[in-house]
Amino acid sequence: MSSPSNERVSDDDEYDSTEDIVEVDYAKIDQDNREIDQSFRIHEVFKCVLGGNYLAPLGRDIKRCLELGYSSGILMMELASEFKNCEFHGLDKRSSAPNDIYPHNCHFEKGDFYTGIKFPDEYFDYVYLRCTMVLIQEDKYNFLLGELNRVLKKGGWIEFTELDFEFRPKGPTCKSLEGILYDTLRKDNTNAQKVRQLGSILTENGFINVKERTYDIPLGEHGGEIGINMASFWRNLAQTYKDNIISKVDAKSQQELDEFIEKGIKEFDEHHSFNKAYNFVAQKA
Ligand SMILES: C[S@@+](CC[C@H](N)C(=O)[O-])C[C@H]1O[C@@H](n2cnc3c(N)ncnc32)[C@H](O)[C@@H]1O
Repeated sequence: MSSPSNERVSDDDEYDSTEDIVEVDYAKIDQDNREIDQSFRIHEVFKCVLGGNYLAPLGRDIKRCLELGYSSGILMMELASEFKNCEFHGLDKRSSAPNDIYPHNCHFEKGDFYTGIKFPDEYFDYVYLRCTMVLIQEDKYNFLLGELNRVLKKGGWIEFTELDFEFRPKGPTCKSLEGILYDTLRKDNTNAQKVRQLGSILTENGFINVKERTYDIPLGEHGGEIGINMASFWRNLAQTYKDNIISKVDAKSQQELDEFIEKGIKEFDEHHSFNKAYNFVAQKA
């Protein structure tokens, strides 16, 4: 495995065009729109951070790709527009991709990937996940990596881009929010910190040429456009987990919950907080 590289994302002029960012009242939107907004925010952030939609050294002649957990489908649609002669398949148990209009080479399929990936052996040139492995149950890791290895062609590429939920550094409200999120996920047998070890887990599962990159993603206005999108991502995610938050902190009404969340967002700028993100690229032997 090559040594990890770390890149700090700065708030220089390139990331400073904040006027186009739309603010949303996350308490008022339904789950589909919540997921679409989260997916679009994270898409913009990672595209800036990685300098594109992928880092795997993909040839122009790839024929079939697979995304697990495509959510809004935005990444798949952009890749399908770039690689017009490649068929993109996606598997998600809860699609919020468009129903009618999308590139002809996108195939949004619904299903639970814990029951297996229903494609033949050595079928895909490239398989990728973004912000999905971090939500995978701990005891399903090896099964899923085994399935991804099975459906990849020899020499094919696998790529993960994942967000680490820890706030670094953090104020007291963010500490509480982070703890609630980790506890909630742990009840579902998800260890969100396991993505930090994905490099060595890929090696243990037989993948080769593993390359790990880490990034510091600023949160809040001090981080320009990226930071503002990340603050909205966290506002949205906090509303998704609102029942868990309300039961743990002194916020009984929606208004008190909103105040709690905004206090956390303010701490982002007070502490110049960031989240780490990871990109792993590896190859099937
Ligand atoms: C955080 S979202 C992914 C965001 C998306 N990849 C992006 O970059 O915009 C995680 C997705 O994984 C899907 N998912 C989680 N567990 C799943 C499972 N067992 N089978 C299929 N999809 C699953 C969820 O429905 C959700 O759409």
